[in-house]
Amino acid sequence: MQDFETFLADHMPTVDTFHPQYNEALQTMLLAGGKRFRPRLLLGIVEAYQPLLLESAMHPALALEVFHTYSLIHDDLPAMDDAALRRGHPTLHTRYDDALAILAGDALNTHAFEILAQSPFRADVRIELVRILAKNGGSGGMVLGQAIDLHFEKHPLHLDEVLELHRNKTAKLIAASLEMGAVIVGLELPVRRALYDFGIELGLLFQVQDDILDATLSSEEAGKPTNHDQDKNSFITLLGLEGAQAYADGLAESLEERFSGFEAPLRKALEPLMRQYLFRHRTPVKK
Ligand code: IPE
Ligand code: IPE
Ligand code: MG
Ligand code: MG
Ligand code: MG
Repeated sequence: MQDFETFLADHMPTVDTFHPQYNEALQTMLLAGGKRFRPRLLLGIVEAYQPLLLESAMHPALALEVFHTYSLIHDDLPAMDDAALRRGHPTLHTRYDDALAILAGDALNTHAFEILAQSPFRADVRIELVRILAKNGGSGGMVLGQAIDLHFEKHPLHLDEVLELHRNKTAKLIAASLEMGAVIVGLELPVRRALYDFGIELGLLFQVQDDILDATLSSEEAGKPTNHDQDKNSFITLLGLEGAQAYADGLAESLEERFSGFEAPLRKALEPLMRQYLFRHRTPVKK
């Protein structure tokens, strides 16, 4: 069976066109690397409960990465975070122009749903996957989080509001990754809900860590601009570096506790990912 990276490289969005840069614009950021955190969560669930479905599950895993990559391309636009570097590469709007970056994002957004609609599962499963990604990535999820993030730049929010911002901007897509895995393997509703809730807390931690890394890494280490969140309602602006680290510790410990209550196969499949990410805000980066 192919690994995810090979699968991704073999399934690049490609369109028949005389536009000289179009396909490259769709593919560059996908091929530029990244942690592949969301696909790995989905594949972890499938590996734990139905390893025979892993090959089919590559399709929805890819859809998640394609969708997430769209969100990054738009996040970096001059009208949003105005960032020139992403995944160690020049952002699309600097390499081409704003129009092509916006359109490449649009294309990847819709392409993610095409992948889900064509994935090798029963129709009811495919519809549920489409619904979960739309619900968590769209108007009541990631897009809302981004809108709040940008609207309240330079306007300090309260802790509960920042939590709501992070939950929407980042945590819901991470929770959706676990829930989509649960749908693929046919887990019962209570287990599915528990995984989603775990994903929300994990996603919150992931964004708090991202805020900490903005304040502590060089842009070379991060592969994107750092010290870039000064005007944002980040956890650093809210709590300071030490406060944010303590908050992240608390979330990570609570997640560890919840994780230890999961069934053995699930713990086994997700353990490498948890070990790598739960305390990454404490892990010094190797140069
Ligand atoms: C960055 O996501 C944006 C956030 C939601 C924090 P990742 O940290 O997963 O970025 P990549 O995919 O590894 O580039
Ligand atoms: C962006 O959060 C989250 C998305 C929905 C893309 P950030 O703006 O903090 O992500 P980075 O730091 O640019 O990766
Ligand atoms: Mg942003
Ligand atoms: Mg950003
Ligand atoms: Mg950030």
